[in-house]
Amino acid sequence: MRILHSSLALPLSALLCIASSADAQQPLTRDNGAPVGDNQNSQTAGPDGPVLLQDVHLIQKLQRFDRERVPERVVHARGTGAHGEFVAAGDITRYTRAKVFAPGTTTAVFVRFSTVIHGNHSPETLRDPRGFATKFYTNEGNWDLVGNNLPVFFIRDAMKFPDMVHSLKPAPDTNLQDPNRFFDFFSHVPESTHMLTRLYSDLGTPASYRFMDGNGVHAYKLVDANGAYVYAKFRWDSRQGEKNLSAAEAAKIQSSSFNHASLDLIEAIKRGEYPQWDLYVQIVQPEQLDKFDFDPLDPTKIWTDIPETKVGTMTLNRNPANVFQETEQSAFAPANLVPGIEPSEDRLLQGRVFSYADTQLHRIGPNAHQLPINASNAAVNSNNQDGRSNAGARTGTVNYEPSRMPPKRQPAEYRYSQLSLSGTTQQARIAKTLNFRQAGEFYRSLSAAEQKNLIANLAGDLGQVRDDATLYAMLSHFQKADADYGERLSRAVKAEPARVRSLAAALVE
Ligand code: HEM
Repeated sequence: MRILHSSLALPLSALLCIASSADAQQPLTRDNGAPVGDNQNSQTAGPDGPVLLQDVHLIQKLQRFDRERVPERVVHARGTGAHGEFVAAGDITRYTRAKVFAPGTTTAVFVRFSTVIHGNHSPETLRDPRGFATKFYTNEGNWDLVGNNLPVFFIRDAMKFPDMVHSLKPAPDTNLQDPNRFFDFFSHVPESTHMLTRLYSDLGTPASYRFMDGNGVHAYKLVDANGAYVYAKFRWDSRQGEKNLSAAEAAKIQSSSFNHASLDLIEAIKRGEYPQWDLYVQIVQPEQLDKFDFDPLDPTKIWTDIPETKVGTMTLNRNPANVFQETEQSAFAPANLVPGIEPSEDRLLQGRVFSYADTQLHRIGPNAHQLPINASNAAVNSNNQDGRSNAGARTGTVNYEPSRMPPKRQPAEYRYSQLSLSGTTQQARIAKTLNFRQAGEFYRSLSAAEQKNLIANLAGDLGQVRDDATLYAMLSHFQKADADYGERLSRAVKAEPARVRSLAAALVE
């Protein structure tokens, strides 16, 4: 089967169907195309002798099996994918030249939903943020919106990400996840209070992927044809509604199935019940940035009081035909941006812009972008070349620049937008931290039943913390967010409320 580089001219499923419909008539072959005569009995030296090395089919079958796995994603290893389309509606073309938003434009998409911390095949019922990554195959290259179901994140600087993940992953000495380790980390990271409050609510256990919203989390820049930009946050609104599981419901499902979320998506698409999400955007002008009492480029914050505009609808309507080729080898990266969309100065996003493309060089290889699931609809015409598993279409002799040969066109309209700067280089935290207020606002927005579940969920893990200093530091963060929240949690884990109150009083927003 020949697959075209840099073109999804034939959908992958059509190519795979061609391959599988041919299966019945075609003889079984080795990877060089040569027919196989016996796939059940190894070639031996007579009836009682050893197996022969010259049985090239046996050798190749074992070799290929031995190499079936690639490294799983370092985070978000457990996931499921689906194909679909995004139809733009609602005009934001005055803010961005990105063609994907021209009203009426239909763009093919591939989405991968995931859990974060545990390995591939871990239970889908576990408390975790859910990944919601969308690849838009636009006519000007692929745009990946790599988001989560929750609208904020635990930290605001990429420098902290590897440490945070180490604390949340199973311990290196026991291979067990341990609240003592991750609360030890978070007790030093007060900006995590907002995310932890959302995560320990029932939003941390969505009923399934169809019933959750998605969020870009960071501010991006939308850039117009003149290089003028605004800041923008994206949100996917589930047309199926948002449904979550209580801890008891999650435990009940887990006792009979640890694949319920993948199964739900696959079965719904098979039934023709295609899930849909509306995409909304919030816009902030650069001159508005300083007017907030928090830093709007801090991903631990939501943009309260900024209206949303609907910009289109996504429908997922096709299951992958080959999970490894499509879902596992899909490579989403915040660096995959298109003209009209750029990263903001958000320090977490800046780290992500590097990290995903980098891990994919290791996980899939330097030519991951040539695989059909990752290939752009727009022809790739770079001077990058070679590398492991290259099936690219580059031809010709001039793979450098400048040259006497006519150069590849580089229209000035595609240059990055310009940001004016002042000051010196520095290593310092942001000025307006406001670590606790939005956590308290979220707590107060919950119903009585939702608050009860949050307290029970959080107390369940906090109650396992053996170190007093860690426990009291964590409780003081929740107390600072909201006094009722802190008091109830303290009672639930049998801590001294007066000690929690005095620690909270010493905290700075
Ligand atoms: C500096 C902070 C972060 C770093 C360094 C980081 C790093 C990574 C890495 C290395 C992967 C594996 C990628 C792969 O193997 O293809 C990954 C996956 C992922 N991350 Fe992050 N991450 C960060 C923060 C975030 C945030 C804030 C979000 C949500 C807004 C997020 C959402 C995701 C999702 C959805 C995936 C899975 C993508 C897929 O389905 O293939 N990450 N991250």
